[in-house]
Amino acid sequence: MMARLDEPLAQRGRASLEFVASVGRWLGKATRDIDASLRAQVDDEALPEDLDAIDRELRARLEPTSLYTTREFGMEWYLNEHGRIAIEAFEEIAPRVTPRLHALDTGPATLEPAPEDWRAPAYWQDVWIHRMHGGWDGHPYMGYVHGQLIHKALVDRLYPGGIFKQRRYVAALAPKRDYSRILEVGTSSGQYTLALAETFPQAEIFGVDLSLRMLEHALRTANARGLPWRLFQRCAHDTGFADASFDLVTSYILLHELPAQAIEAVFQEAFRVLRPGGDVLMSDVSRYADLDAVRRWWADHGARHGGEPWWRESASLDLAAVARAAGFQDVRAWGEPPLSYPYVVIGRKPETVA
Ligand SMILES: C[S@@+](CC[C@H](N)C(=O)[O-])C[C@H]1O[C@@H](n2cnc3c(N)ncnc32)[C@H](O)[C@@H]1O
Repeated sequence: MMARLDEPLAQRGRASLEFVASVGRWLGKATRDIDASLRAQVDDEALPEDLDAIDRELRARLEPTSLYTTREFGMEWYLNEHGRIAIEAFEEIAPRVTPRLHALDTGPATLEPAPEDWRAPAYWQDVWIHRMHGGWDGHPYMGYVHGQLIHKALVDRLYPGGIFKQRRYVAALAPKRDYSRILEVGTSSGQYTLALAETFPQAEIFGVDLSLRMLEHALRTANARGLPWRLFQRCAHDTGFADASFDLVTSYILLHELPAQAIEAVFQEAFRVLRPGGDVLMSDVSRYADLDAVRRWWADHGARHGGEPWWRESASLDLAAVARAAGFQDVRAWGEPPLSYPYVVIGRKPETVA
């Protein structure tokens, strides 16, 4: 039987998160309305190529309108407050839920923290990602706060189609069904890992992430279900595994959190740890090259204000070219319709490597 990870929120936390979600829904509607009015005013193809120049031009049109300024104010509030409110909601239930969480620290799954003298890369360490205070490891139970509260009470409800269904969809895109050892890079709280475990029940699943707090939640998620995942606090481009030790290396929305050089290094590391004939399957945010100018601007604007410092650099990369440069063959890459999201790259390590 599956052990319970979730705990009903107290009245105050539930109401506060419901309020944040309703602000999120209003922001979504305001964005769609502003987008429609922008598209009626501008010729997308006549907008400049340069992202900062598009930004200047579109903001000059929008800033005099009250809907846009109210949206900007609402977005600032949402970004600043959603993490803090989720943490407060967690603190209210902490006395009830934390004993249960620690009971799940042991089980078939294992987690190896990094050695004391290990340091995460500066592009991760120095960033408060998504504007969450302290970043990925900013609270002792950030894994629960993010994986259980923010994901379920906010993100899943605000995105059409559901964020968990999409992870299962991506896992099923892998070219084979009979993998025996899978490495997931950027495991975080284990949501894509669950999709991998469901899609490849026979496979041994390994996961790496820089965030110990997220991995702790992944560990408990696995133990609650009796799944023997092997989790490591390690870097996606320096995994420490032996050459040729996996037959699938995969990730779901990791890459946009990395600068371009680190993304290239992740593909090189995936190539190294894959067996000849093994597959790489990476999925991430839409490529700017696939978006029209107004959508490119919305994505870039959202990333710049939303605590995503590497999004522009990452979304501007041609990931298929990066995969080929790392040595992969039969590379296919596409943005899933209708929004070119997620962007998926699949490639194969050749049977013989020169
Ligand atoms: C958006 S989350 C990934 C989402 C996750 N795959 C899921 O399905 O929910 C990004 C994760 O990548 C991790 N990360 C960022 N840079 C990394 C790196 N160089 N190596 C390993 N993990 C990294 C972050 O700590 C974070 O947990």
